[in-house]
Amino acid sequence: MKIAILKERRPHETRVAATPETVKKLKALGAEVTVEAGAGTAAAYTDQSYMDAGATVVPDAASAAAAGEIVFKIQRPMSQAEGLDEIGLLRSGQMLMAPLGALTNRDLMQVLADKGVTSFALELIPRITRAQSMDILSSQANLAGYKAVLLAANNFGRIFPQMMTPGGTLAPTRAFIMGVGVAGLQAIATARRLGAIVTATDVRPATKEQVQSLGGKFIAVEDEEFKAAETAGGYAKEMSADYRAKQAALVADHIKAQDIVITTALIPGRKAPVLVTEDMVRTMKPGSVIVDMAVEQGGNCPLSEYGKVVEKHGVRIVGPANLPAELPTDASSLFARNLLNFITPMVDKETKAVKIDLNDEVVKGTLVTRDGQIVHPSLSQTPGQN
Ligand code: NAI
Repeated sequence: MKIAILKERRPHETRVAATPETVKKLKALGAEVTVEAGAGTAAAYTDQSYMDAGATVVPDAASAAAAGEIVFKIQRPMSQAEGLDEIGLLRSGQMLMAPLGALTNRDLMQVLADKGVTSFALELIPRITRAQSMDILSSQANLAGYKAVLLAANNFGRIFPQMMTPGGTLAPTRAFIMGVGVAGLQAIATARRLGAIVTATDVRPATKEQVQSLGGKFIAVEDEEFKAAETAGGYAKEMSADYRAKQAALVADHIKAQDIVITTALIPGRKAPVLVTEDMVRTMKPGSVIVDMAVEQGGNCPLSEYGKVVEKHGVRIVGPANLPAELPTDASSLFARNLLNFITPMVDKETKAVKIDLNDEVVKGTLVTRDGQIVHPSLSQTPGQN
């Protein structure tokens, strides 16, 4: 089993898909690991540390890809137009294990299928107990939730905790977290640790208790639709126009008194719901801060701009491009362990090669292309759609 680790080249990306720690463990599984020079530099993992862990370091992406039967990446492969023809470096029979954005990049999936690449889309790892240790969405969202609060604090002209000084008392900051998934829960915990008064909202009823257990106050329209708003997979459903109107009225009233708003609301495979309208921003206090963590999926606030900090109606709106990449050492470490945990059960103990078990739930959930075809059930039924 030969594994190649490529350096990531997309804008804002600083992470790497394997660390010296996981290289050692991959070697113990029987793998030979080749790392492109500089792959870990931005995440503080030196070429020397990979060599010390037993990897071979090669000068460029082409030599790394050529040495691997399996390619690990943290971003989907690029085309020449995007910077480097990483897709062209892949060959028939090779395996690709990476977050691919498979459901929204069907054209790329077709290219990978046509090339004969066997691709696994790591964002599709099913949310079952056995796969928790492989869940890249959770590991990265957790770090992103933490960093979002720090970004908010850095963009805010006040401190979070109440502070009593001889000169007078400073009031505590009020932080409102919208969307209480993995990122939102970490944002609540982090804002509380910094001393803010925290409120939070979500459409999934299970989140109420979670918010309260972290010391936050739960705010939501708790009607019949709310009670049924969670899918079997644990994700949110898209809410009706009627619910969204009631939710907007509640939020509009609450948001006026908030200093910090962190939005994390996502619906898998769809554009992020708009939760903070321009009218709501107008009612916020000058100097307030919004961090829109959903900006990549269209944003929970229509005023946020991808990769930018903008001032609108006296409110600073942060649209972070890639939050986990702002914590590259830890984000790579967790991602690399997720990927190690993903591949480990696939390795045949005798032959030390990856053996694909098509009956395995994790394989079925993630395998997107194989034998020249798109094979994922969510994609194979809808040719031509993007
Ligand atoms: P996500 O990133 O897809 O969405 C973030 C949050 O936004 C979710 O809590 C969602 O309910 C909320 N949201 C969507 N539309 C909204 C709206 N209109 N207003 C307010 N909030 C809205 O979700 P994430 O973080 O990936 O987690 C979803 C669930 O999956 C969580 O309950 C989490 O605990 C669970 N989970 C289970 C795992 C497992 O069993 N292996 C692993 C990871 C997460």
